[in-house]
Amino acid sequence: MIVILLGPPGAGKGTQAAAISRRLGIPHVSTGDIFRANLSEGTPLGLEAKGYMAMGELVPDDLVVRLVADRLSRPDAAGGALLDGFPRTVGQAEALEDILASRGSKVDVCLLLDVPDADLLARLSGRRVCRRCGSGWHASFSPPPVDLKCPKCGGEIYQRDDDMEETVTSRLAVYRRQTRPLTDWYGAKGSLTVVHGTGTPQDVEKDIEKALSAGGAR
Ligand code: AP5
Ligand code: MG
Ligand code: ZN
Repeated sequence: MIVILLGPPGAGKGTQAAAISRRLGIPHVSTGDIFRANLSEGTPLGLEAKGYMAMGELVPDDLVVRLVADRLSRPDAAGGALLDGFPRTVGQAEALEDILASRGSKVDVCLLLDVPDADLLARLSGRRVCRRCGSGWHASFSPPPVDLKCPKCGGEIYQRDDDMEETVTSRLAVYRRQTRPLTDWYGAKGSLTVVHGTGTPQDVEKDIEKALSAGGAR
């Protein structure tokens, strides 16, 4: 089963991903997390992505598409994957269709997490993340431990560089310009399901469960 998590920066894609991935028994594949891991390890891929990420721009399609094709070819993704932050352009969506068609598969559902712009800035400016395992907190809504040590893995809890206000504004503009057209694209294919991403993370999780069950997923 291939599930896409679509939504603006700060919509809660990462927050909801673990539960969905557990429920459906498919791996969580976040292109942003993969780029950040490569960045911290200083790999050529990380170095190539660095400038784009720092500016809040998208990494070029060909680079992202190669990365995802490679990730989907691993054994743990044989039964599908939960794609978080990919595709982000119509070009990426078309490339994904080709990759999936070559293995006799397709996108089953594209879940759009819909959150008003006003909430996004507050969510992103307060976000804190574990550098090692990617777990997330929020300075006001779900504060991390005071020693900034991740209770799950012991990693350091930090603020992402691209969560500074200036970069957030550019990421939101990039989303509107390049990624939002995908809602029409998947809508036209009949695979779009909209879930309101406001309310508590637990409320949103329940709404996603309902939407997935209604769509025939477990
Ligand atoms: P990426 O890491 O994918 O960032 P993003 O799409 O901007 O999304 P975020 O991770 O910022 O938001 P999220 O929806 O996961 O929110 P979260 O759950 O953390 O991409 C980063 C960069 O990599 C891009 O800018 C680009 O350069 C590059 N890149 C990645 N993929 C690419 C691609 N396909 N093509 C090209 N370039 C690509 O939640 C946010 C905060 O809100 C947290 O603090 C959380 O605790 C809080 N929160 C969550 N839910 C709730 C709730 N219900 N109520 C209150 N607070 C909540
Ligand atoms: Mg995320
Ligand atoms: Zn951790």
